[in-house]
Amino acid sequence: MSKLIEQVVISQTAEISDDLYELLLLADPSSKMINSYLDRGLIFIASLKHDIIGEYILLKTRPNILEVVNIAVREDYQQQGLGKFLLNDAIERARLAGAERLEIGTANSSLFQLALYQKLGFRIVGIDKNYFLRHYNKPLYENKIQCFDMIRLSKKLV
Ligand code: COA
Repeated sequence: MSKLIEQVVISQTAEISDDLYELLLLADPSSKMINSYLDRGLIFIASLKHDIIGEYILLKTRPNILEVVNIAVREDYQQQGLGKFLLNDAIERARLAGAERLEIGTANSSLFQLALYQKLGFRIVGIDKNYFLRHYNKPLYENKIQCFDMIRLSKKLV
């Protein structure tokens, strides 16, 4: 376990601070989309002393199915294993909650996220074509690739 992970505490919160909202926007640039799931999801934050440096939101989408609808690590703490730590925590919580599957979606252009999710056992189960054209009014780019489609991934928990 890295020095950073050793010091991080993950806890559930209902308080939407500005620092938390900034992290939510890092994963999802649309406040409209964020607000559509914020009050229905369970919010978990990674704290380092008094700072929030990561978060994820778990949402029940169907009976026995949970989805990570937002996950982010503050930019100055990325690539130090915290994303993996948060996602493993989400997997464990979903399992303890009795979910059969944990799902996550990401853009066709989100190459590192696709790597991370597959490393943790998520499999691609579908493509929601043109999702980003339908839900966002501005073109979005990542890795110089336009975000068109939502890649849907799922991990079996039982
Ligand atoms: N370059 C290469 N690989 C990267 C990477 C980068 N810049 N960032 C993440 N990865 C991949 C690697 O596969 C890495 O695995 P490895 O440790 O075996 O090499 C894996 O991600 C885990 O890295 P980790 O350090 O745990 O990730 P992180 O703390 O940077 O968090 C995100 C990952 C995606 C949560 C973080 O980058 C983030 O907040 N991004 C912006 C918000 C976002 O895109 N959220 C997801 C929306 S679908």
